[in-house]
Amino acid sequence: MTDHPNTRRPAPLGDSPPPDARPTGLRVAITGGTSGLGLALVRELLARHARVAFVARSRDTVRRLAAEHPDAHGIVGDVARKEDTYPIAMQILGALGGLDVLVNNASDLGPTPLALLADTDCEDFERALATNVLGPFRLTKALLGALAASAREGAGAVVLNVSSDAAINAYPTWGAYGASKAALHHLSRIWNEELAAEGITVLSLDPGDMDTPMHAAALPEADPSRLKRPETAARELVDAIEAGRTLLRSSSELVAREAAR
Ligand SMILES: NC(=O)c1ccc[n+]([C@@H]2O[C@H](COP(=O)([O-])OP(=O)(O)OC[C@H]3O[C@@H](n4cnc5c(N)ncnc54)[C@H](OP(=O)(O)O)[C@@H]3O)[C@@H](O)[C@H]2O)c1
Repeated sequence: MTDHPNTRRPAPLGDSPPPDARPTGLRVAITGGTSGLGLALVRELLARHARVAFVARSRDTVRRLAAEHPDAHGIVGDVARKEDTYPIAMQILGALGGLDVLVNNASDLGPTPLALLADTDCEDFERALATNVLGPFRLTKALLGALAASAREGAGAVVLNVSSDAAINAYPTWGAYGASKAALHHLSRIWNEELAAEGITVLSLDPGDMDTPMHAAALPEADPSRLKRPETAARELVDAIEAGRTLLRSSSELVAREAAR
C-alpha cells in the first residue's frame, strides 16, 4: 500500500528517544489498548513513565492486562456506544486526575471477509462509522475541557487519531473501513485548525501495515514477517506525540514572550 502526504506517517526514529524527550508523568488515555498497536502503545508509554488508562470492550481481557500492568488503569467500554462515552471519560479523568493525550486507536474493520460496497450490509457500515468516527468524536468532545486545562498548564495537549492509508487510497473491498477512516482523517484536520487557539493539537497518523489481529482478519494470506511490528509503530507514534507537544510548548512560550514585550 502507498502513502499520501495528507496521511502523515512519522519518520522511523532510533531505538529510544533522547532523555529530554521522555514524556515523564504524561497522562495518556488509549482506546483499543488490549491488542495490536493499542497494547504496544500502553507498554511503550509505561516504559517512558507515562500514566496510562486504556479502554476495550472485553472485560476479561481488560482485567487480565490491567493485572499484568498494575501501573495502567483498565476501563471496560465500547466507544461505538453513545451511552458509554461519559462513563469512559469520567473513569479516565478519575484514574489520571486530568488528561494530556488522548489516542483514539480502537477501530472496526467492517465486514470480513472484506466485501464490495454493494455487498456491505448497512448495519456493518453503520458500525464502522460508529466505532471509527462517531466514537472518537464523542470521546474527544467529552474530554476537551480536560485537554484544554492541560494545555493551559503548559503541558501541550494532543489528540492522536490513528489513521490508515485506506483513508486516502480507494482500495476495493475496504469501503466501510476506508470511508470511515477518511472521515476521521478530515475531522482531525478541521479539529486541529479549530483547537489550535486552545493549545490542543490534533494529529492523524497512519501507523503502517502491522502484524496485528486486525491485519490478519483483513488479509489472512499476508506474510506476518513482512509486516511492521506494532512495537515499532508505537515507538514512532509516541515520538510524534512528544514532538507535537514540544512544538506546542515552544509556540506558547513564544506567544507569552511576545505578550510580555
Ligand atoms: N494493523 C494494521 O496493519 C493497521 C494499518 C493501518 C492502520 N491501523 C489502525 O491501527 C489501529 C489499531 O489497529 P490494530 O491492528 O492494532 O487492531 P486490533 O489488534 O484489532 O486491536 C483493536 C483493539 O481495539 C479494541 N476495540 C475494538 N472495537 C472497540 C470498541 N468499539 N470500543 C473499544 N475498544 C474497541 C479491541 O478490543 P475489544 O475487541 O475487546 O474491544 C482491541 O483492543 C486501528 O485504528 C487501525 O485502524 C492498523
